Amino acid sequence: MKELLKVLVTGGAGFIGSHVTDLLLDQGYEVIVIDNLISGKLKNLHRDVVFYQTDILSQETEQIIKKEKPDYLVHTAAQISVAKSIESPINDANINIIGTMKLLDYANKYGIKKVIFSSSCAVYGETGDINIPINHKLAPLSFYGASKLTSEMYIQLYCKFYHLPYTILRYSNVYGPRQSSQGEGGVVTIFTNCYLSQKRPIIYGDGEQTRDFIFVKDVAMANLAALQTRNSVNSRIFNIGTGDKTSINKLTESLSKHFPDKLTPQYSPALDGDIRFSCLDIEDTIKNLNWRPSWSLKQGLEETLTYYQNEMRGNKDGK
Ligand SMILES: NC(=O)c1ccc[n+]([C@@H]2O[C@H](COP(=O)([O-])OP(=O)(O)OC[C@H]3O[C@@H](n4cnc5c(N)ncnc54)[C@H](O)[C@@H]3O)[C@@H](O)[C@H]2O)c1
Repeated sequence: MKELLKVLVTGGAGFIGSHVTDLLLDQGYEVIVIDNLISGKLKNLHRDVVFYQTDILSQETEQIIKKEKPDYLVHTAAQISVAKSIESPINDANINIIGTMKLLDYANKYGIKKVIFSSSCAVYGETGDINIPINHKLAPLSFYGASKLTSEMYIQLYCKFYHLPYTILRYSNVYGPRQSSQGEGGVVTIFTNCYLSQKRPIIYGDGEQTRDFIFVKDVAMANLAALQTRNSVNSRIFNIGTGDKTSINKLTESLSKHFPDKLTPQYSPALDGDIRFSCLDIEDTIKNLNWRPSWSLKQGLEETLTYYQNEMRGNKDGK
């Protein structure tokens, strides 16, 4: 009989965590979710999930892991805002570093087989106009980037000292259904909602800054691939992006095509600390993780748009 494997997804009511959860359930895994709903939503939760509304920093988290005995931990819960990390570095470190450490400790104590961690391209900092290879120098420009990098180091040390296998996934700018308009990659959601409510989107700077937009279902697939990799590529770090650069001007153009009123963007001065270029090199990931992105930007934007159109209709109908 096939073994039913159990996965704990922290942050499973959030944007990326809920897509990972849906995919794992679809693949026959049992999924439990821990989320304090600070930005996650109950409506994102699949009905087959076992849900605990609690903070990863709470004592209850250890009790849940002790009782549920998950086989794997997919850790997506985090303080995700760069701006908030600068306003309150201690809060960011508490959730992102201490929260991760506590989970690593429980993972080690209660026999979790592997940890999959959601990291970020923010660990690289300003890189210039290149596709950032996985071995690029690490120089975060924010406390958020620093807390992700510190967590990565703790994960590696837990592996070294306690033999806890891991996969660290450094995401580029993730977009898709269920994303809130805050956070790292919220620009697609923000602009889509602008167009849907007939407002002109605001572009900070000249719009020629580029990003590597990866669709959330591809990110969910990368988490699944990481969970299923066998020993040879266990305990490694991978870039998860598309390797394609898209300027903010180009993104606006692609989105606006879907709307009848031709709303031109407004330009505002560039934001302090905004990175000019960000694009990940994924050659090593494709070679070693048994994963490659399969959604084009066009397909991903269409799917995202349909989701927000339905949401808007639902809200209007009072659903
Ligand atoms: N969205 C992106 O473009 C992007 C890019 C790089 C990395 N990441 C990383 O991916 C992960 C998921 O991000 P997301 O975009 O889905 O954000 P999200 O805010 O939608 O999801 C985070 C989830 O974690 C929960 N959470 C936060 N703090 C918690 C705590 N202390 N205890 C329990 N639950 C808590 C939130 O309620 C939310 O449901 C994060 O680790 C983020 O840093 C995201």
